[in-house]
Amino acid sequence: MKIMFNGYLGILALLIAPMAAAQMNSADLYAARSSFHSSGCSSCHTAADSAAGPSLQAIAKRYKGKAVVAELADRIRSGSQGRWGDLPHPAIDYLSQSEAILMAKWILGGAR
Ligand code: HEC
Repeated sequence: MKIMFNGYLGILALLIAPMAAAQMNSADLYAARSSFHSSGCSSCHTAADSAAGPSLQAIAKRYKGKAVVAELADRIRSGSQGRWGDLPHPAIDYLSQSEAILMAKWILGGAR
Protein backbone atom coordinates (compact mmCIF):
# COMPACT_ATOMS: atom_id res chain seq x y z
CA MET A 1 0.00 0.00 0.00
CA LYS A 2 2.79 2.39 0.94
CA ILE A 3 4.60 1.68 -2.34
CA MET A 4 1.43 2.33 -4.33
CA PHE A 5 0.88 5.56 -2.45
CA ASN A 6 4.39 6.75 -3.26
CA GLY A 7 3.81 5.80 -6.87
CA TYR A 8 0.72 7.97 -7.02
CA LEU A 9 2.60 10.88 -5.47
CA GLY A 10 5.34 10.50 -8.06
CA ILE A 11 2.83 10.56 -10.90
CA LEU A 12 1.13 13.55 -9.34
CA ALA A 13 4.45 15.41 -9.11
CA LEU A 14 5.17 14.63 -12.77
CA LEU A 15 1.78 16.02 -13.75
CA ILE A 16 1.98 19.11 -11.59
CA ALA A 17 5.56 20.22 -12.37
CA PRO A 18 4.94 21.29 -16.00
CA MET A 19 1.60 22.84 -15.07
CA ALA A 20 3.25 24.87 -12.34
CA ALA A 21 5.77 26.13 -14.88
CA ALA A 22 2.98 27.38 -17.09
CA GLN A 23 1.11 29.11 -14.29
CA MET A 24 2.35 32.63 -13.61
CA ASN A 25 0.49 35.52 -12.10
CA SER A 26 0.14 38.70 -14.10
CA ALA A 27 2.91 40.53 -12.21
CA ASP A 28 5.35 37.72 -13.06
CA LEU A 29 4.22 37.68 -16.68
CA TYR A 30 4.79 41.41 -16.89
CA ALA A 31 8.22 41.19 -15.20
CA ALA A 32 9.33 38.35 -17.50
CA ARG A 33 8.19 40.14 -20.65
CA SER A 34 9.94 43.35 -19.54
CA SER A 35 13.22 41.54 -18.75
CA PHE A 36 13.06 39.77 -22.09
CA HIS A 37 12.85 43.06 -23.97
CA SER A 38 15.22 45.06 -21.77
CA SER A 39 17.90 42.32 -21.80
CA GLY A 40 18.30 42.32 -25.58
CA CYS A 41 16.76 38.88 -26.06
CA SER A 42 14.35 40.26 -28.65
CA SER A 43 17.23 41.13 -31.00
CA CYS A 44 17.72 37.38 -31.57
CA HIS A 45 14.36 35.83 -30.60
CA THR A 46 10.90 36.71 -31.91
CA ALA A 47 7.57 35.21 -30.93
CA ALA A 48 6.91 33.09 -33.99
CA ASP A 49 9.75 33.36 -36.52
CA SER A 50 13.22 31.97 -36.17
CA ALA A 51 15.82 34.74 -36.33
CA ALA A 52 19.39 34.38 -35.06
CA GLY A 53 17.83 32.24 -32.35
CA PRO A 54 14.82 29.91 -32.37
CA SER A 55 11.35 31.46 -32.00
CA LEU A 56 9.80 31.44 -28.55
CA GLN A 57 6.99 29.27 -29.91
CA ALA A 58 9.48 26.70 -31.22
CA ILE A 59 11.23 26.57 -27.83
CA ALA A 60 7.91 26.11 -25.99
CA LYS A 61 6.91 23.38 -28.45
CA ARG A 62 10.17 21.44 -28.18
CA TYR A 63 10.04 21.31 -24.37
CA LYS A 64 6.25 20.99 -23.97
CA GLY A 65 5.39 18.92 -20.90
CA LYS A 66 9.03 18.62 -19.78
CA ALA A 67 10.31 20.01 -16.51
CA VAL A 68 13.19 22.03 -17.93
CA VAL A 69 12.81 25.46 -16.31
CA ALA A 70 16.06 25.23 -14.32
CA GLU A 71 17.98 23.80 -17.27
CA LEU A 72 16.83 26.55 -19.64
CA ALA A 73 17.49 29.22 -17.03
CA ASP A 74 21.08 27.94 -16.73
CA ARG A 75 21.56 28.04 -20.49
CA ILE A 76 20.07 31.52 -20.74
CA ARG A 77 22.75 32.66 -18.29
CA SER A 78 25.72 30.58 -19.35
CA GLY A 79 25.10 30.16 -23.09
CA SER A 80 24.15 27.37 -25.45
CA GLN A 81 25.25 26.09 -28.83
CA GLY A 82 24.44 23.14 -31.06
CA ARG A 83 20.93 22.44 -29.80
CA TRP A 84 19.22 24.39 -32.56
CA GLY A 85 21.99 25.19 -34.98
CA ASP A 86 25.50 26.50 -35.17
CA LEU A 87 24.87 30.00 -33.87
CA PRO A 88 25.53 30.38 -30.15
CA HIS A 89 23.20 31.82 -27.56
CA PRO A 90 25.67 34.07 -25.72
CA ALA A 91 26.31 33.86 -22.00
CA ILE A 92 24.19 36.55 -20.37
CA ASP A 93 25.56 36.26 -16.89
CA TYR A 94 24.53 39.66 -15.58
CA LEU A 95 21.01 38.27 -15.31
CA SER A 96 20.11 36.98 -11.89
CA GLN A 97 19.11 33.34 -11.56
CA SER A 98 15.59 34.41 -10.60
CA GLU A 99 15.24 36.63 -13.70
CA ALA A 100 16.42 33.75 -15.89
CA ILE A 101 13.97 31.35 -14.21
CA LEU A 102 11.13 33.80 -14.70
CA MET A 103 11.94 34.18 -18.40
CA ALA A 104 12.32 30.42 -18.88
CA LYS A 105 8.87 29.88 -17.32
CA TRP A 106 7.40 32.65 -19.43
CA ILE A 107 8.82 31.19 -22.66
CA LEU A 108 7.71 27.65 -21.78
CA GLY A 109 4.25 28.96 -20.89
CA GLY A 110 3.77 30.51 -24.35
CA ALA A 111 5.46 33.94 -23.86
CA ARG A 112 2.23 35.88 -23.47
C1 HEC B 1 23.00 37.03 -30.03
C2 HEC B 1 21.72 36.37 -30.19
C3 HEC B 1 20.97 35.92 -28.96
C4 HEC B 1 20.59 36.67 -27.87
C5 HEC B 1 20.89 38.14 -27.56
C6 HEC B 1 19.79 35.77 -27.03
N1 HEC B 1 19.71 34.52 -27.60
FE1 HEC B 1 18.73 32.92 -26.85
N2 HEC B 1 19.45 31.77 -28.33
C7 HEC B 1 20.21 32.22 -29.41
C8 HEC B 1 20.59 31.08 -30.24
C9 HEC B 1 21.43 31.16 -31.52
C10 HEC B 1 20.04 29.94 -29.62
C11 HEC B 1 20.20 28.48 -30.05
C12 HEC B 1 21.42 27.90 -29.29
C13 HEC B 1 21.66 26.44 -29.58
O1 HEC B 1 21.54 26.02 -30.73
O2 HEC B 1 22.00 25.72 -28.62
C14 HEC B 1 19.31 30.41 -28.44
C15 HEC B 1 18.62 29.59 -27.57
C16 HEC B 1 17.82 30.03 -26.54
C17 HEC B 1 16.96 29.20 -25.74
C18 HEC B 1 16.76 27.68 -25.89
C19 HEC B 1 17.89 26.97 -25.19
C20 HEC B 1 17.75 25.47 -25.27
O3 HEC B 1 18.38 24.83 -24.42
O4 HEC B 1 17.05 24.91 -26.12
C21 HEC B 1 16.34 30.01 -24.83
C22 HEC B 1 15.34 29.61 -23.75
C23 HEC B 1 16.83 31.35 -25.07
N3 HEC B 1 17.72 31.32 -26.11
C24 HEC B 1 16.41 32.45 -24.35
C25 HEC B 1 17.01 33.71 -24.46
C26 HEC B 1 16.77 34.81 -23.54
C27 HEC B 1 15.80 34.79 -22.38
C28 HEC B 1 17.57 35.83 -23.94
C29 HEC B 1 17.79 37.19 -23.27
C30 HEC B 1 18.20 37.16 -21.87
C31 HEC B 1 18.29 35.39 -25.12
N4 HEC B 1 17.93 34.10 -25.40
C32 HEC B 1 19.20 36.17 -25.84
C33 HEC B 1 20.56 33.53 -29.66
C34 HEC B 1 20.42 34.57 -28.77
